[in-house]
Amino acid sequence: MSVAPIPSAPKPKPEPAAGGTPAVGVRDLVFGYAAEYVPVFDHFDWTVAPGEMWALIGPSGCGKTTLLYLIAGLRQPQAGQVLVDGSPAPRPRASTGLILQDHGLLPWATVASNAGLGLRMGRLYRNKQAPPGQPRPYPPALPQEEATRWLDRLGIGHLADKYPAQLSGGQRQRVAIARTLALRPNLLLMDEPFSALDPLTRRDLQDQVVELQAELGITTILVTHSVEEAAFLGRRILLLTAPPNRTAPVIDNPGAGQPGFRAAPAFAQRVQTLHAHLGEVASGIRSGGQA
Ligand SMILES: Nc1ncnc2c1ncn2[C@@H]1O[C@H](COP(=O)(O)OP(=O)(O)OP(=O)(O)O)[C@@H](O)[C@H]1O
Ligand SMILES: [Mg+2]
Repeated sequence: MSVAPIPSAPKPKPEPAAGGTPAVGVRDLVFGYAAEYVPVFDHFDWTVAPGEMWALIGPSGCGKTTLLYLIAGLRQPQAGQVLVDGSPAPRPRASTGLILQDHGLLPWATVASNAGLGLRMGRLYRNKQAPPGQPRPYPPALPQEEATRWLDRLGIGHLADKYPAQLSGGQRQRVAIARTLALRPNLLLMDEPFSALDPLTRRDLQDQVVELQAELGITTILVTHSVEEAAFLGRRILLLTAPPNRTAPVIDNPGAGQPGFRAAPAFAQRVQTLHAHLGEVASGIRSGGQA
């Protein structure tokens, strides 16, 4: 079976996205975990425009999580820049939401309390910033309504008094999403958020992410191992390869997220293209070459 060639993107120039400052600008990025290892990124460039929905896919160990952590400010480039809204991210910023596969819920806190955790921590943090010499005010009434609103919006308001251990994987992931959205991020990073879920729950949450992303216009980057998930959610898809990543193909996928897209020929074609690419990368890795 012949497969359409993957559009191999020329190395993107570090130019702003149309309409102004990119939401994320990766410029000439060099990053490796230790000097003796092959760097994960080697003069790598990538631009994400505000409001875009990206899927990030590639074989295990190619650097997907590393790239999210660099954008989240949890890792720092060794050279080059990772800019969020035009500024470097030397530390995590309040308006970047990060959702991980294991939900990160506190087992001893209720759903309501877990959902409000980010907001409470934000208040404490802001209070810590009180001018020197002034008493740090006790955090005022907790802004629980915002978290409650998101729990309701995600269909789990009735579980507010339960504990994480009493929830299904899908419900836990909804709590994690509610907690993040309650912080009103303008950038949402998700690292394989649905990989532990059964197919129906996964589909349901994918649909909900599409709906929320369209409604809120949040720039979203979702890492996934699932070709189908990347093809359904990613209006643009970045294909990482074996380190060192120097350039990465980008696939435009304009139908992503639209109702009925999973049944459309364009979806099947995209899935086929992504499988072909991953197959090429895997055979490159097996033969010891770099993709
Ligand atoms: N803390 C660390 N110390 C040293 N090397 C690391 C560390 N974290 C990741 N790596 C290495 O960096 C490379 C990229 O890892 P990363 O976790 O970003 O891959 P990934 O694409 O997210 O993989 P997966 O799909 O399995 O989650 C891998 O070769 C990995 O072994
Ligand atoms: Mg990973």
